[in-house]
Amino acid sequence: MSSRTLFRTKTVEQSIRDTEEPEHALKKSLTSLDLTVFGVGVIIGTGIFVLTGKIAKETAGPAVALAFVVAGLVCALAALCYAEFASTVPVAGSAYTFSYASLGELPAWIIGWDLILEMALGCAVVAVGWSGYVRSLMDTAGMHLPQALTGTHDGKFGFDLLASILVLVLTAILVAGMKLSSRVTAVVVAVKLTVVMLVIIVGAFFITGSNYKPFIPPSQDTEGGDGMTAPLIQLIFGWTPTVFGVMGIFTAAAVVFFAFIGFDIVATAAEETHNPQRDVPRGILGSLLICTVLYVAVSVVVTGMQHYTDLSTDAPLADAFKSVGHPFWAGLISFGAAVGLTTVCLILLMGQTRVFFAMSRDGLLPQAFSRVHPRFGTPYRSTILLGVIVAIVAGFTSIDVLAELVNIGTLFAFVVVALGVILLRKQRPDLPRSFRTPLVPLIPILSVLASLWLMLNLSAETWLRFGVWMVLGFGLYFAYGRTHSRLGRQEESGRPGA
Ligand code: ALA
Repeated sequence: MSSRTLFRTKTVEQSIRDTEEPEHALKKSLTSLDLTVFGVGVIIGTGIFVLTGKIAKETAGPAVALAFVVAGLVCALAALCYAEFASTVPVAGSAYTFSYASLGELPAWIIGWDLILEMALGCAVVAVGWSGYVRSLMDTAGMHLPQALTGTHDGKFGFDLLASILVLVLTAILVAGMKLSSRVTAVVVAVKLTVVMLVIIVGAFFITGSNYKPFIPPSQDTEGGDGMTAPLIQLIFGWTPTVFGVMGIFTAAAVVFFAFIGFDIVATAAEETHNPQRDVPRGILGSLLICTVLYVAVSVVVTGMQHYTDLSTDAPLADAFKSVGHPFWAGLISFGAAVGLTTVCLILLMGQTRVFFAMSRDGLLPQAFSRVHPRFGTPYRSTILLGVIVAIVAGFTSIDVLAELVNIGTLFAFVVVALGVILLRKQRPDLPRSFRTPLVPLIPILSVLASLWLMLNLSAETWLRFGVWMVLGFGLYFAYGRTHSRLGRQEESGRPGA
């Protein structure tokens, strides 16, 4: 097998041409506003509604606000690279498609495989978070599900019925068509933003200055464990594993990074926009900026309302209001969170089906999955397959472990995209780019370093799991993708794709 085969690239022109074949074409119906709504719809979710409290309490204290700034900066660097790629390669598939056009088939496969971690598992994680909020609302109303149907808790095995049902309903909405789902999304995003603004504005009246002392709690050694739960960077340098302190801010950033996941998915919908050259960069950068400002504001308010050591880890935003004697606001926030998390799930699922669709259209996965529905114009087969798998995973998943795994997969994709920007500038300087990353190669290099830094701040066991996942991916590529690749077959039959 020659290395030329592994690194054969699909040209940008060919990528665009493939999307124009009628049986493989998605409807072009989205605008930059739709994209921003999608972006905000997927970005604000479990990260801010659930992880803020846990991370402030266990890893960073009030400095969790700084962790959001760090994670936001890493994402902004990646967004500048994503935006150039997306505006140059305006077809479905996100980092997968971009790397197929620049780095070659094997890296593209790795990225596609890796994006499954981000989106399919991310969707499952958020569905479980949603189910928790809904159960909390049901409990308030006096309705209780049997323990066995509420998922796995404290080592007790169970099936999360609500999470699975949510995923299946969203799958049906996606199969029925983009337009319907983007309308539903717009309404839900409005509810979610209202709730986040409520937390910031109403909560600001209940801030007690002394809760910010100390703003960066002194570093503490972590006790027990086998070391695998410590950040890899601490193990590599033989540092005593710690939480809090300045290093705690970075450990926290690597976890709250989950709260930003999704802005890159705006790029996966590029093929479905009127004017990808203009709409995609606007959609990505716009939604990222809005979310960063909101996250910092929410974490400053919440850690000001309650001392970080008292924050709840399940529903910190709502419980902070309970702690200052306002259960009404708490209920409203829980309701908004439950509503808001539905769009996060929806868009993660959509992003994943689009990547799967693109991989299947390229023959790296069975091509039967890339047929679009004759009436709805959606990739219904991949949507249904993925929806069912995610529903099962959501039923049996526990959030903590998977959230970190989602982060490492996404950060890895950022690294590849940033490298791809540099390579594509060298290999194809002629391509029109409506958005150009400033200061190339400085910004892409900084993006690679920043993403790697956050990855190193994730736990050693997350790295191990990620390694296993990638080895599986390699196995699949060599067993199926390499020989079934559409590009490979075109090259063999003497019809080079370019
Ligand atoms: N960013 C999304 C969330 O916080 C995935 O839930």
